[in-house]
Amino acid sequence: MIYGVHMDIWGRKSRIVITCAKGIVPFLKEELRLLEFPILSEGIASVETEGTMDDAMRLNLFIRTGHRILFFLERFKARHPDELYQVISGMKWEELIPEGGYLCVTSTVNNPTIKDTRFANVKCKDAIVDRIKRTCGRRPDSGSERDRTVIHLFWKDEMGSLFIDTSGQPLSRRGYRKIPLRAPMQETLAAGVILATGWRGNNNFINPMCGSGTLAIEAALIGLGRPPGLLRSNYGFMHLKGFDESSWREIRRKARATARDWMDGKIIATDISAEAIQGAKKNAQTAGVERWIDFGICPYGETPVPNGEGVVMLNPEYGERMGERDALREIYKGIGDFFKKRCQGYHGYIFTGNLDLAKRVGLRTKKRIPFYNSNIECRLLEYDLYEGSQKKNIEKLALQS
Ligand SMILES: C[S@@+](CC[C@H](N)C(=O)[O-])C[C@H]1O[C@@H](n2cnc3c(N)ncnc32)[C@H](O)[C@@H]1O
Repeated sequence: MIYGVHMDIWGRKSRIVITCAKGIVPFLKEELRLLEFPILSEGIASVETEGTMDDAMRLNLFIRTGHRILFFLERFKARHPDELYQVISGMKWEELIPEGGYLCVTSTVNNPTIKDTRFANVKCKDAIVDRIKRTCGRRPDSGSERDRTVIHLFWKDEMGSLFIDTSGQPLSRRGYRKIPLRAPMQETLAAGVILATGWRGNNNFINPMCGSGTLAIEAALIGLGRPPGLLRSNYGFMHLKGFDESSWREIRRKARATARDWMDGKIIATDISAEAIQGAKKNAQTAGVERWIDFGICPYGETPVPNGEGVVMLNPEYGERMGERDALREIYKGIGDFFKKRCQGYHGYIFTGNLDLAKRVGLRTKKRIPFYNSNIECRLLEYDLYEGSQKKNIEKLALQS
């Protein structure tokens, strides 16, 4: 008889850690608050809350800015890899992972006996699959694919924690970007950047240089209040023993009911490249939001900006190669002119990883919000373009009096 720690996860509350990119934590916390989840703690790239597996499923559907929803299983002490193997083999994985399934182990390790984190992953994976073989007679397959059961090991010095990665594939893979094109923004980052502006669909969202359309598509999902996770059909939690298809269906039904079918503002997305617009339209179609976005092929300076208010957001290239920089200097300078001449009454934003180029814009920034695009430190630069609109308002008032 093999003893071990029970792995009952369904129906009980546990800690839930949501990972995200650096810079995203304030927006992830705000999302959690609005979903009425408590904030237990935060790190530079994670926020901790608590809830049941049903809550974890809901978070997978609703969270726009997080990458992985990790449901806490066990905390343990292990000084070295052999001890890690022993402790992990003592947990009843056969209650959690189907013997005919597929397992991937990921990890965050900082232990003096481990030089290569892949070794810790292998030890952890071996402990799990050996245990299932011993108890059920059959070993699950394993590897680096994250499309089925994913277990995350967190091991720092002598203390470790095990989590189920309920997301499986990171949530940044919404599934709509079939055509990524040049330097696309990660979907979760695009959502974070939009949430940082405060835009929620009540006025216009103008996105020249839209590339594959990520910002415009995320804006449409935000403006319509559509949970982004509804776009995906596969999650890590589906590949666990005890997963109840009918309660998942009910969670999805309720999530669908929170979305609106109207938006006050207009979303306009343009790019100089016909290929980019073709790709962006396809992506928007896959995301089910194509009818909410007016696409156009034109240089950014000719993007139609309707009278009214809203956000104008551009994500120009950062110019990694020398030759590109000269051309980009002109582009950044031109964006300043476009803001001044065409976007009065709006809030202007540039998302860039090149602050030297951003100086060419020639306008005073109101805010500089730090973000990270992979490892590149970026800024969302905000420009208040209200001067002209105030003048217009004064003129309007004068005409009315
Ligand atoms: C960094 S990419 C934008 C990526 C986009 N945020 C995404 O997620 O796919 C910059 C885009 O600017 C476009 N572009 C470059 N010069 C332009 C110009 N003068 N006018 C309009 N678009 C331009 C490029 O075609 C490219 O699609």
